[in-house]
Amino acid sequence: TPHPDENVVWHKHVIDKQYRAEQKKQRPALLWFTGLSGSGKSTVAGALESKLAQMGYHTYLLDGDNVRHGLCRDLGFSDHDRRENIRRVGEVAKLMTDAGLIVFSAFISPFREERQLVRELLPEGEFLEVFVDTPLEVCESRDPKGLYKKARAGEIKAFTGISSAYEAPEAPEVHLHTDEHSVEALVDQCIASLRQAGIIG
Ligand code: PPS
Repeated sequence: TPHPDENVVWHKHVIDKQYRAEQKKQRPALLWFTGLSGSGKSTVAGALESKLAQMGYHTYLLDGDNVRHGLCRDLGFSDHDRRENIRRVGEVAKLMTDAGLIVFSAFISPFREERQLVRELLPEGEFLEVFVDTPLEVCESRDPKGLYKKARAGEIKAFTGISSAYEAPEAPEVHLHTDEHSVEALVDQCIASLRQAGIIG
Protein backbone atom coordinates (compact mmCIF):
# COMPACT_ATOMS: atom_id res chain seq x y z
CA THR A 1 0.00 0.00 0.00
CA PRO A 2 1.29 3.50 -0.87
CA HIS A 3 2.54 5.72 1.96
CA PRO A 4 0.08 8.44 3.03
CA ASP A 5 2.87 11.01 2.51
CA GLU A 6 3.66 11.08 -1.24
CA ASN A 7 7.23 12.24 -0.46
CA VAL A 8 8.00 8.97 1.29
CA VAL A 9 9.01 6.61 -1.51
CA TRP A 10 9.94 2.92 -1.61
CA HIS A 11 13.58 2.17 -2.41
CA LYS A 12 14.09 -1.09 -4.25
CA HIS A 13 17.44 -2.66 -3.41
CA VAL A 14 19.52 -5.04 -5.52
CA ILE A 15 19.71 -7.74 -2.86
CA ASP A 16 16.08 -8.71 -2.55
CA LYS A 17 13.88 -11.31 -0.92
CA GLN A 18 14.38 -13.85 -3.71
CA TYR A 19 18.17 -13.44 -3.56
CA ARG A 20 18.26 -13.90 0.21
CA ALA A 21 15.94 -16.92 0.07
CA GLU A 22 18.00 -18.59 -2.67
CA GLN A 23 21.16 -17.97 -0.65
CA LYS A 24 19.53 -19.94 2.18
CA LYS A 25 18.14 -22.53 -0.24
CA GLN A 26 14.65 -22.28 1.20
CA ARG A 27 11.21 -20.77 0.67
CA PRO A 28 10.29 -18.13 3.26
CA ALA A 29 7.05 -18.55 5.19
CA LEU A 30 5.23 -17.38 8.29
CA LEU A 31 3.58 -19.94 10.55
CA TRP A 32 1.18 -17.96 12.70
CA PHE A 33 0.29 -19.86 15.89
CA THR A 34 -2.87 -18.60 17.59
CA GLY A 35 -4.67 -19.90 20.67
CA LEU A 36 -5.56 -19.26 24.29
CA SER A 37 -2.98 -18.58 26.98
CA GLY A 38 -1.58 -21.94 28.04
CA SER A 39 -2.81 -23.65 24.87
CA GLY A 40 0.72 -24.72 23.93
CA LYS A 41 1.63 -22.18 21.22
CA SER A 42 5.18 -21.52 22.42
CA THR A 43 5.84 -25.18 23.21
CA VAL A 44 4.83 -26.50 19.79
CA ALA A 45 6.32 -23.57 17.85
CA GLY A 46 9.60 -23.98 19.76
CA ALA A 47 9.74 -27.73 19.17
CA LEU A 48 8.93 -27.25 15.48
CA GLU A 49 11.63 -24.60 15.16
CA SER A 50 14.21 -26.94 16.76
CA LYS A 51 13.28 -29.70 14.32
CA LEU A 52 13.53 -27.46 11.25
CA ALA A 53 16.80 -25.93 12.46
CA GLN A 54 18.20 -29.48 12.84
CA MET A 55 17.07 -30.15 9.27
CA GLY A 56 19.21 -27.18 8.20
CA TYR A 57 16.54 -24.52 7.72
CA HIS A 58 17.07 -20.90 8.78
CA THR A 59 14.32 -19.94 11.20
CA TYR A 60 13.18 -17.36 13.73
CA LEU A 61 10.59 -17.63 16.50
CA LEU A 62 8.72 -14.50 17.61
CA ASP A 63 7.16 -15.18 21.00
CA GLY A 64 4.55 -12.98 22.71
CA ASP A 65 6.08 -13.19 26.15
CA ASN A 66 9.49 -12.12 24.80
CA VAL A 67 8.35 -9.47 22.32
CA ARG A 68 6.37 -7.78 25.10
CA HIS A 69 9.67 -7.25 26.95
CA GLY A 70 11.08 -5.11 24.12
CA LEU A 71 9.35 -4.10 20.88
CA CYS A 72 5.91 -4.06 22.51
CA ARG A 73 6.92 -3.12 26.03
CA ASP A 74 4.59 -0.11 25.95
CA LEU A 75 1.50 -2.22 25.21
CA GLY A 76 -0.99 -3.80 27.59
CA PHE A 77 -3.98 -6.08 27.01
CA SER A 78 -6.79 -3.71 25.99
CA ASP A 79 -8.35 -4.55 22.59
CA HIS A 80 -6.53 -1.54 21.14
CA ASP A 81 -3.13 -2.61 22.50
CA ARG A 82 -3.56 -6.23 21.40
CA ARG A 83 -4.36 -4.98 17.88
CA GLU A 84 -1.24 -2.80 17.87
CA ASN A 85 0.81 -5.71 19.23
CA ILE A 86 -0.27 -7.95 16.35
CA ARG A 87 0.18 -5.18 13.76
CA ARG A 88 3.80 -4.63 14.87
CA VAL A 89 4.57 -8.33 15.05
CA GLY A 90 3.04 -8.84 11.61
CA GLU A 91 5.31 -6.17 10.14
CA VAL A 92 8.37 -7.63 11.88
CA ALA A 93 7.47 -11.13 10.69
CA LYS A 94 7.13 -9.75 7.16
CA LEU A 95 10.63 -8.24 7.39
CA MET A 96 11.94 -11.58 8.55
CA THR A 97 10.38 -13.46 5.64
CA ASP A 98 11.90 -10.73 3.46
CA ALA A 99 15.23 -11.75 5.00
CA GLY A 100 14.50 -15.25 3.64
CA LEU A 101 13.60 -16.91 6.93
CA ILE A 102 10.96 -19.41 7.95
CA VAL A 103 9.27 -17.51 10.76
CA PHE A 104 7.11 -18.80 13.60
CA SER A 105 5.01 -16.55 15.79
CA ALA A 106 3.32 -17.48 19.06
CA PHE A 107 0.79 -14.82 20.10
CA ILE A 108 -2.73 -15.27 21.41
CA SER A 109 -3.79 -12.93 18.56
CA PRO A 110 -7.43 -13.20 19.63
CA PHE A 111 -9.04 -11.19 16.82
CA ARG A 112 -9.81 -12.54 13.34
CA GLU A 113 -9.46 -9.14 11.73
CA GLU A 114 -5.83 -8.64 12.85
CA ARG A 115 -4.85 -12.17 11.83
CA GLN A 116 -6.40 -11.47 8.43
CA LEU A 117 -4.44 -8.20 8.15
CA VAL A 118 -1.19 -10.08 8.78
CA ARG A 119 -2.17 -12.71 6.20
CA GLU A 120 -2.67 -9.92 3.67
CA LEU A 121 0.83 -8.52 4.36
CA LEU A 122 2.34 -11.62 2.76
CA PRO A 123 2.15 -13.14 -0.72
CA GLU A 124 -0.46 -15.89 -1.23
CA GLY A 125 0.65 -19.21 0.26
CA GLU A 126 3.34 -17.75 2.50
CA PHE A 127 1.11 -17.32 5.57
CA LEU A 128 -0.08 -20.44 7.37
CA GLU A 129 -2.45 -20.01 10.28
CA VAL A 130 -1.89 -22.65 12.96
CA PHE A 131 -4.82 -22.96 15.37
CA VAL A 132 -3.63 -24.36 18.70
CA ASP A 133 -7.08 -25.61 19.66
CA THR A 134 -7.01 -26.45 23.35
CA PRO A 135 -10.26 -26.25 25.36
CA LEU A 136 -10.38 -23.44 27.92
CA GLU A 137 -10.84 -26.01 30.75
CA VAL A 138 -7.59 -27.71 29.74
CA CYS A 139 -5.66 -24.41 29.53
CA GLU A 140 -7.10 -23.42 32.88
CA SER A 141 -6.15 -26.71 34.52
CA ARG A 142 -2.59 -26.37 33.16
CA ASP A 143 -2.36 -22.72 34.29
CA PRO A 144 1.48 -22.71 33.95
CA LYS A 145 1.84 -19.10 35.11
CA GLY A 146 -1.05 -19.04 37.60
CA LEU A 147 -2.76 -16.37 35.48
CA TYR A 148 -6.16 -18.09 35.13
CA LYS A 149 -6.37 -18.30 38.92
CA LYS A 150 -5.65 -14.58 39.16
CA ALA A 151 -8.12 -13.81 36.35
CA ARG A 152 -10.89 -15.82 38.09
CA ALA A 153 -10.12 -13.93 41.29
CA GLY A 154 -10.58 -10.66 39.38
CA GLU A 155 -6.93 -9.72 39.79
CA ILE A 156 -6.33 -9.52 36.01
CA LYS A 157 -8.90 -7.71 33.94
CA ALA A 158 -9.53 -8.50 30.29
CA PHE A 159 -7.99 -11.97 30.44
CA THR A 160 -8.48 -13.95 27.20
CA GLY A 161 -11.15 -16.64 27.50
CA ILE A 162 -12.37 -15.32 30.85
CA SER A 163 -13.08 -11.62 30.46
CA SER A 164 -11.80 -10.89 26.95
CA ALA A 165 -12.82 -12.54 23.68
CA TYR A 166 -10.96 -15.18 21.68
CA GLU A 167 -12.21 -15.51 18.09
CA ALA A 168 -11.28 -19.00 16.88
CA PRO A 169 -9.97 -19.32 13.30
CA GLU A 170 -12.59 -20.45 10.79
CA ALA A 171 -10.31 -22.06 8.22
CA PRO A 172 -6.80 -22.48 9.65
CA GLU A 173 -4.19 -24.15 7.41
CA VAL A 174 -3.14 -26.29 10.41
CA HIS A 175 -5.47 -27.37 13.23
CA LEU A 176 -3.72 -28.78 16.31
CA HIS A 177 -5.37 -30.57 19.24
CA THR A 178 -2.84 -30.44 22.06
CA ASP A 179 -5.06 -32.32 24.51
CA GLU A 180 -5.13 -35.36 22.21
CA HIS A 181 -1.59 -35.60 20.83
CA SER A 182 2.01 -35.44 22.02
CA VAL A 183 4.23 -32.45 21.16
CA GLU A 184 6.21 -34.76 18.86
CA ALA A 185 3.07 -35.80 16.95
CA LEU A 186 1.97 -32.16 16.66
CA VAL A 187 5.38 -31.19 15.27
CA ASP A 188 5.06 -34.01 12.71
CA GLN A 189 1.61 -32.70 11.75
CA CYS A 190 3.10 -29.22 11.17
CA ILE A 191 5.96 -30.68 9.12
CA ALA A 192 3.46 -32.57 6.94
CA SER A 193 1.51 -29.33 6.37
CA LEU A 194 4.71 -27.45 5.48
CA ARG A 195 5.55 -30.19 2.94
CA GLN A 196 2.04 -30.12 1.50
CA ALA A 197 2.26 -26.32 1.13
CA GLY A 198 5.57 -26.75 -0.72
CA ILE A 199 7.50 -24.73 1.83
CA ILE A 200 9.90 -27.53 2.71
CA GLY A 201 10.98 -30.45 0.52
S1 PPS B 1 -2.11 -10.83 22.44
O1 PPS B 1 -3.52 -10.94 22.88
O2 PPS B 1 -1.87 -11.58 21.19
O3 PPS B 1 -1.70 -9.43 22.29
O4 PPS B 1 -1.25 -11.49 23.62
P1 PPS B 1 0.30 -11.96 23.62
O5 PPS B 1 1.19 -10.86 23.15
O6 PPS B 1 0.42 -13.27 22.93
O7 PPS B 1 0.59 -12.14 25.18
C1 PPS B 1 -0.04 -13.17 25.88
C2 PPS B 1 0.73 -13.53 27.15
O8 PPS B 1 0.64 -12.47 28.10
C3 PPS B 1 0.26 -12.94 29.39
N1 PPS B 1 -0.91 -12.16 29.82
C4 PPS B 1 -2.17 -12.18 29.30
N2 PPS B 1 -2.76 -12.94 28.35
C5 PPS B 1 -4.06 -12.69 28.06
N3 PPS B 1 -4.81 -11.75 28.66
C6 PPS B 1 -4.28 -10.96 29.62
N4 PPS B 1 -5.02 -10.02 30.22
C7 PPS B 1 -2.90 -11.17 29.98
N5 PPS B 1 -2.06 -10.58 30.88
C8 PPS B 1 -0.86 -11.18 30.75
C9 PPS B 1 0.05 -14.42 29.29
O9 PPS B 1 1.12 -15.01 29.97
C10 PPS B 1 0.12 -14.76 27.82
O10 PPS B 1 1.04 -15.82 27.60
P2 PPS B 1 0.74 -17.17 26.78
O11 PPS B 1 2.09 -17.57 26.27
O12 PPS B 1 -0.23 -16.90 25.66
O13 PPS B 1 0.24 -18.13 27.77
